[in-house]
Amino acid sequence: MRSCPQSIAGAFVSKGGGAWAGRILIGLWATPSVARADAGGGTPSLFMPVAEPAQSILDYGTLLVLICAVIFVVVMGLLTFTVIRFRASAADNDEEPPQVYGSDQLELAWTIVPVLIVIVLGLITAGRIVALQKDTRPEGSLAVRVVGHQWWWELEYPDLGFVTANELHLPLGQVAFLTLESDDVIHSFWLPQLAGKLDVIPNRKNTMWIEPQKTGMFVGQCAEYCGTQHANMLLRVFVHEPEDFERWVREQQLEARRVDAHAEGRALFAQTACVNCHTVRGLTEIGSFGPDLTHLMSRTTLAAGAAANDEASLVDWLTDPDHIKPGVRMPAMKLSHSQIARLAGYLSSLE
Ligand code: CUA
Repeated sequence: MRSCPQSIAGAFVSKGGGAWAGRILIGLWATPSVARADAGGGTPSLFMPVAEPAQSILDYGTLLVLICAVIFVVVMGLLTFTVIRFRASAADNDEEPPQVYGSDQLELAWTIVPVLIVIVLGLITAGRIVALQKDTRPEGSLAVRVVGHQWWWELEYPDLGFVTANELHLPLGQVAFLTLESDDVIHSFWLPQLAGKLDVIPNRKNTMWIEPQKTGMFVGQCAEYCGTQHANMLLRVFVHEPEDFERWVREQQLEARRVDAHAEGRALFAQTACVNCHTVRGLTEIGSFGPDLTHLMSRTTLAAGAAANDEASLVDWLTDPDHIKPGVRMPAMKLSHSQIARLAGYLSSLE
């Protein structure tokens, strides 16, 4: 189902548009909770689109707000005029004014005008929906399969042959066609500056497209309560120039690095329960419950944006994942300090 309540809500939120009224009414509450700044996130704004369809959604919302603003001004203007013009005065006697029962002109006017307004708004909306929805993959587009998990995003590039997590990389100017699936509960995929919001539902494939128009890093977030760590189900999108994207793809396609200095850590990884959940291409490819770690260090954050991705955080994470992300599905492995140090050393060599 494409137009699930969440996407309507997304469009509705976006409909504040560039209009200042929309900013005040909607912008205030819509933006601050999205994406934590402690891992370098920043706050995305619906009012600063950097891609289609976000730009079209904003334009559409602005138009709706403007039409509604004109109606508001006309109605409130007439009301104010009436209240002032016909207020009680000393010259009034107690006679009732002439009583009018039924006026064809008036009744036709206040029936036809609103009907016409609703029809116009309906046609504009239908036109937008048709223009923005793409159920089949456009030719020349980049396919990405997005799978929502409690509480992280799996990102597969099926035509390019690799899987990553929590950081979506896209080339500038090329349409990306996303298939959204869930591995457990209902999530919602929301990139405020790039596209609308779409539910990610178990046993269903929803589709979304994005055509980035600006390079940079843009943050997004799961927008449907999906359990304890819903708020830490963040997503980062990196939009690159095409050649930079190609380079990133080539690096991701490689198998995991094998650094001799980390042979012990690698062996430890391969021997522990880590492998039941995590794939490191070229070493072990059994696990798929947790994020693919083949190029772990090419990502800027750990735990779907809950911490910066560096060796110190890795040590913290391996010692007690719950400490960084309470409720996380990854258990503390109860390893010794030296084992954790070796493991963190190995993982931080996976560039
Ligand atoms: Cu996934 Cu909220």
